[in-house]
Parts: sequence; structure tokens; C-alpha cells
Amino acid sequence: MTTDIKKGLAGVFADVTAISKVDPEINSLVYRGYPVQELAATQPFEAVAYLLWNGELPTDEQLAELRAIEHANRALSPAVKDLIDAMPVDSHPMDEVRTVVSLLGAIDTAGIDNVLDAVGTPAENLDRSIRLFAALPAVIAYGQRRRHGDELIEPRDDLDYAANFLWMTFGEEADPAVVDAFNRSMVLYAEHSFNASTFTARVIASTLSDLYSAVVGAIGALKGPLHGGANEAVLHVFTEIGSAENVGAWLDEALAAKRKIMGFGHRVYKRGDSRVPTMKAALDTLVAHYDRPDVAELYDTLESEFVARKGIYPNLDYPSGPAYSLMGFDTLTFTPLFIAARVTGWTAHIMEQQASNALIRPLSAYDGPDERHIDGYVPDAADVEALQRPEEAAD
Ligand SMILES: CC(C)(COP(=O)(O)OP(=O)(O)OC[C@H]1O[C@@H](n2cnc3c(N)ncnc32)[C@H](O)[C@@H]1OP(=O)(O)O)[C@@H](O)C(=O)NCCC(=O)NCCS
Repeated sequence: MTTDIKKGLAGVFADVTAISKVDPEINSLVYRGYPVQELAATQPFEAVAYLLWNGELPTDEQLAELRAIEHANRALSPAVKDLIDAMPVDSHPMDEVRTVVSLLGAIDTAGIDNVLDAVGTPAENLDRSIRLFAALPAVIAYGQRRRHGDELIEPRDDLDYAANFLWMTFGEEADPAVVDAFNRSMVLYAEHSFNASTFTARVIASTLSDLYSAVVGAIGALKGPLHGGANEAVLHVFTEIGSAENVGAWLDEALAAKRKIMGFGHRVYKRGDSRVPTMKAALDTLVAHYDRPDVAELYDTLESEFVARKGIYPNLDYPSGPAYSLMGFDTLTFTPLFIAARVTGWTAHIMEQQASNALIRPLSAYDGPDERHIDGYVPDAADVEALQRPEEAAD
């Protein structure tokens, strides 16, 4: 067996990217050269989306143009609403969003009867990316409302992306401090190099499949609790523990059972996730706004006890889970919020992959049974010829 296996592709550089850089040595994450903390503190999410797609922050005019397209595509179309309503009311919202993106792709690529054309031009794919980014908040907001038996709320044209997202979910205008915390979370979640879902999107794009198919695959990868599903899982942990005084006993039991503690650890960052301090500051603002010191106490106690015992630090999902909970989002809605943000990074990567494409197709080392044969089978000439072909040629 080949010895040079990188299980989980850990430590492998699969390609180059100009979209973001994660540097765990100095605990830094930059989008197109800008530290994510600076972007979170100063930019609306729409401007960060523009940056990821185009490589530069927008001018006022460019931002206004992007916002105009975003506003024009925010409302839930009747076809999408019907599709959501056709799904069981207790279906997981990740499945709802994944299914809706599939429908949007089918509508958008209808009439294209040559698979080579579905890949789209760079301009078409930028346009698809903006419309998808604009359409998802209504899907996620309505998903949460439907689970509560509430009616759809139409978007408000006078509100920007973050404020309108909260409006469509809760039907009331959010406090500016809450809008700011939500906007920061969107910026922090927008992009993170070759994480599992982005890499999935790039693998699909590398076959020259269309952008929607790549996003659907990425959503599937994001759902898992080792990736995006962790923010939802963090809240389950908080609920299980109950309050700060139970942390020690809960951890004793969880670690004895060799449980992975959700919201801690990272494949790339080993000394702390560069996004956590910014999101923790946003969480602190929300704790003060909603007067919930108990949340901060549980957060701090679990963090300090777990770090003291295992030396493993929180990742972004640790502060974002309780932050979204305080804002009023259902636990089930947390990972869909991650989709709304990360769709910008995914689509930027899909376009980058297609601009300089190589089919992503690694090798596998075989460790199954030795060659064997069907009793009584007599190979014919074609089989004999096939055996002389290169091993990996028949995908
Ligand atoms: C994110 C994650 C998958 C990274 O995993 P990885 O780079 O493959 O590292 P491993 O899972 O091999 O972990 C290395 C060691 O740390 C331990 N570890 C890592 N994260 C842990 C956690 N959250 N809780 C308990 N132990 C953890 C592993 O058990 C392993 O210990 P071992 O060497 O004694 O077996 C992992 O840290 C994890 O499962 N975290 C919880 C889920 C989560 O928060 N995901 C969101 C990521 S942004």
C-alpha cells in the first residue's frame, strides 16, 4: 500500500486561492488582504460579499448597485414558497434550504439543453451568486416562522441586508446593537479558504457542473456537526449543562465518554480561532442588551474548564450559537444562517475554480481483497484488452 496518505487531506495544499488566507501561526484570517476583524467592525455584509466576489471593496456607487439587485431579489417567489410549504413542517431547515437552492437552479438553468452551457459565463455566475445571496434570507426566515405556525413577512425596502433579515424573521425592527452583532456574524462566517463545504463546492465546480449544483453539495457538507452543524450542537450542549455550576460534573462525564465537545477545536487553528474574539465581543453586547449574564457565565465557565483540561480552544461556532439564540433564532436555524453568510465565499470559490480549472480527482490507495475471480468465468478478448488499460482510466 502507498505510504504517503494524508488522511482527511490534512496539511495538503490542493490549489492556490486569492480569496482568503488563514494563518494559524499568527492567528490571522484575511479576505482579499483585509483582516476579517477590520471588515466586521467597519463594513456591511453586502460590501464584504462584493469584496469576496470582485477582489476590491465597492465604491458607494457599486454598493448601491449591488444593494439594488439584492433588494429586487429578496422576496420569496410563489414557486419557492410552495416548495417550502410542500415539505414537512418539521423537516430540518438545512434540508429545506438545500432543496430550495436546487429548485432555484432548475428554474435558472431551464431551457439550457447542452450540459456544457450550464456552467455559465463569469458574468452569468456573478449574477447567479448575487441573486442566490439575496434570495436565501427570506427562505431561512420563512422556514423559522413556518415552524412556529407564523405567516410569511414581506421584505422591507428601506432596510439593508442584516436589518431586513431580522425583520423578515421576527416581524419587528431590530435594535441597532442586534443588527450590528448579526452583521458581524455574517462577515465572520462569509469565507474560510478550503474548508470542507468550500472544497466540496470546488470539487463539483471542477467537473464543470453548474453553480447551483456546487452550492447544493456545499450545503450538504456544511450540515455535518464536524463543520457548520457545530453551532447548532453548541446550543444542545448549553441546554444539557443548564447552568455554570454544572459544568465540572458535565465535563467529567462527557470526557470519560470520549465525547467531542462541540464548538471546540479546529483543523487549522490549534491555538484559538482568529474569529472568536470578535464574535465573543458581539456576544457580550447581546448579553448586556438582553440582560442575560447567565449565558456569559456558562460560556466562560465551559471555555475555561475545557481549555484547562484539554488545551483545545473554541471555534467560531462556540460564541455564534449562543449569540443567535439570544437574538431569537431557533437552534435549528443556526446552520442555515451560516449558509446565508458562506454562500458568498462558496460562490467566489466556484468562480475562481472555473476561471482556472483542473478536475479535482485524487488517487486512493487500495487495501481491499487481493484480486480474485468468479468461478467458471472465462475472460473474452475485451476483458483481456481491458486489463492492459491504466488502472484509473474508467471513471
Ligand atoms: C473541528 C474538528 C473536527 C477538527 O478535527 P481534527 O483536526 O481532525 O482533529 P481531531 O478530531 O483528530 O482531534 C485531535 C485530538 O483532539 C481531540 N479533540 C479535538 N476537538 C475536540 C473536541 N471538540 N472535544 C474533545 N476532544 C477534541 C480529539 O479527540 C483528538 O484527540 P486524540 O488525539 O486523543 O484522539 C474537531 O476539533 C471537532 O470535532 N470539533 C468539534 C466540532 C466542531 O466544533 N466543529 C466546528 C469546526 S469550525
